[in-house]
Amino acid sequence: MDLELNILVGTQTGVAQLVAQEIELRLDGEGLRIKTRLMDDIDATVFKNGGVFLICTSTYGQGDVPDGARPFYDELLNSRPNLSNVRYGLIGLGDKGTHAATFCFAAKKFDKILGELGAVRIGEPLFNDSNTELPENEAAQWMEGWIVLCRTELAQTT
Ligand SMILES: Cc1cc2nc3c(=O)[nH]c(=O)nc-3n(C[C@H](O)[C@H](O)[C@H](O)COP(=O)(O)O)c2cc1C
Repeated sequence: MDLELNILVGTQTGVAQLVAQEIELRLDGEGLRIKTRLMDDIDATVFKNGGVFLICTSTYGQGDVPDGARPFYDELLNSRPNLSNVRYGLIGLGDKGTHAATFCFAAKKFDKILGELGAVRIGEPLFNDSNTELPENEAAQWMEGWIVLCRTELAQTT
C-alpha cells in the first residue's frame, strides 16, 4: 500500500518549498502519496487524523520560524493538541556561517514542540547548512534513507 506523506513547509524566500518539490520529483514512483502544504495555509487540524509528516523549514530573523509559519507554530504552543498518532521527520535549512548561534533553530523549535505534544520522530533530523551543501540535493538524498526508516517503523507499529 502507498505510504501517505504530508510535507509541511515553512519558508521565507522559497528555498524550503523548492526542497519539497525536489523531494516529490525524486520520490515519484516509489509507492508514496505525497501532499505538500505551506505552513502559511494550515492550522493544527492538519494533524487531526495522525499519519506521517515531514517538517521542512528554514530559520529567519534570529533563530525564528519564518513569518508565514508563525501562526501555525504559535497555535501548537498555545492549544497543545495531543499528537500521539503523529510520526514525523525533520529537515531544517539554515546558514551556519552567518548564523552559527541560531543554526536551524526553527526546525529545532518544531522538533521540541512536536515531541512535547506526543508526536514521535522517525530517524535523526537533517540540518542543512546552505554554505556547504545544496539544500535540495542533500534533502533528496537524505529522504531515500528516511523513507526506508518510515516503512520499517510503520511495519512494526501496524
Ligand atoms: C535575514 C536572515 C536571517 C536568517 N537567520 C537564520 C538563523 O537564525 N539561523 C539559520 O540557521 N539560518 C538563518 N538564515 C538562513 C536561511 O534559513 C537560509 O538561507 C534558508 O536556506 C532560507 O530558506 P527559505 O528560502 O525557505 O526561507 C537567515 C537568512 C536571512 C536572509
